[in-house]
Amino acid sequence: MVYDKPIVKVVPPGPKAKEVIERHSRYVATTTHDPEVLPLVIDRGEGVWLVDVDGNVYLDFSSAVSASNLGYPTHPEIKKAIIEQLEKIAHAAGTDYYNPYQVALAEKLASIAPGKFEKKVFFCNSGTESIEAALKVARYATNRKLFIAFIGAFHGRTLGSLSLTASKPVHKRKFFPTAPGVVHVPYPNPYRNPWYIDGYEHPDELVNRVIEYIEYWLFGHYVPADEVAAVVAEPIQGEGGYVVPPKNFFTELKKLCSKYGLLLVMDEVQMGLGRTGRMFASEHFNVAPDEVCLAKSLGGGVVPAGATIIRKDLDFDPGAHSNTYGGHALVSVAALKTLELTEKYLPNVQALEKLFRESLNELKEKYEYIGDVRGLGLAWGVEFVRDRKTKEHAPKLRNKVVNEALKRGLAMLPCGKSTIRLIPPIVIGEEEVKIGLEIFKEAVKSALT
Ligand SMILES: Cc1ncc(COP(=O)(O)O)c(C=O)c1O
Repeated sequence: MVYDKPIVKVVPPGPKAKEVIERHSRYVATTTHDPEVLPLVIDRGEGVWLVDVDGNVYLDFSSAVSASNLGYPTHPEIKKAIIEQLEKIAHAAGTDYYNPYQVALAEKLASIAPGKFEKKVFFCNSGTESIEAALKVARYATNRKLFIAFIGAFHGRTLGSLSLTASKPVHKRKFFPTAPGVVHVPYPNPYRNPWYIDGYEHPDELVNRVIEYIEYWLFGHYVPADEVAAVVAEPIQGEGGYVVPPKNFFTELKKLCSKYGLLLVMDEVQMGLGRTGRMFASEHFNVAPDEVCLAKSLGGGVVPAGATIIRKDLDFDPGAHSNTYGGHALVSVAALKTLELTEKYLPNVQALEKLFRESLNELKEKYEYIGDVRGLGLAWGVEFVRDRKTKEHAPKLRNKVVNEALKRGLAMLPCGKSTIRLIPPIVIGEEEVKIGLEIFKEAVKSALT
């Protein structure tokens, strides 16, 4: 452990942090910073700890939203691979010429992605681009125009992916019309769904309702099934609140897709590559998607990387889709090393899951205001409610917990309407997890008193 506890000398934001924020607000266009959540101005990272510009040290339970899964600063093996590659070539015009670096990464991704069929990989630079590519592949290969996505989903913010995104109205306000042809259906959220089914007690009933909704209501009334190119889904909804669907949902969904000739696109941008204890979260659900989208952690927290892994027979014809930096040589070697390292840490993630499950469920027993605890591996969500019966969201309480935790040296991020995600880097050790969970408990206690 680099530190054995957090060090908070000055309540964030300290004086230096305030100065950076002031300059930031003058020159950097506004993105996602939530004014209700205390800001963190990062100077550097060490192991699984973040140090802010005022010298405060925080345990990181946010992993840059699962981009920095391998901790900080740059993992030495990735750094070595990058430096060696810099001596050769950084950018090898991978979309116009050929290079062995992107080939090696494509071979690796094709060999580890779920599904016993041949695959190819389209490279890009971000999650939203990996979704755009998936949509274009689906239209190109099927010659169908429509898509089905889920309420609660987040797939990115460019106009194509934004048309699928449906987790918060703020993402779409003033941006309509987004790409036409997307229909949203309820996600099988075991805790909150339109049918008031307790999906933990009755998972099959919940799954059947969603499948029936698509097949009977949608296909039977207003969306011709033979015009739908694909269903796009997150294996676990991330921005929507770390929602874990019932185990058999995706096998049932895939059956429905096969029945009507639809492709299944799995967006593993946030949950893929080790976060859930498997390389692909889809593996937990025994499903082999036709397309898998990756980004965030693919770049090892160091370089921007995106990839869409597709069934080989779905590939484009030359010139149909491309981008400048996709398959960048330096990014490719960094991503390949990231995959190797991630594989090594899977047992660590699997071993630590129990600590989260037990500790968070204990908290839920204790506090009425915790409505739901859900997760897999090192991907955990805790949902705060004003009342367990009505399940009324408690966003203010949630934000207070996030802030109380930060003041005590634990960095976490909100998601959904009133959920906190607890997502440490996958290289975290047991002692550090215990420290973080203890602070989380204290923060909940303090926010409630
Ligand atoms: C599931 C999912 N898909 C897509 C995206 C978009 O990724 P990016 O921000 O790299 O465009 C995100 C980002 O949070 C995501 O969580």
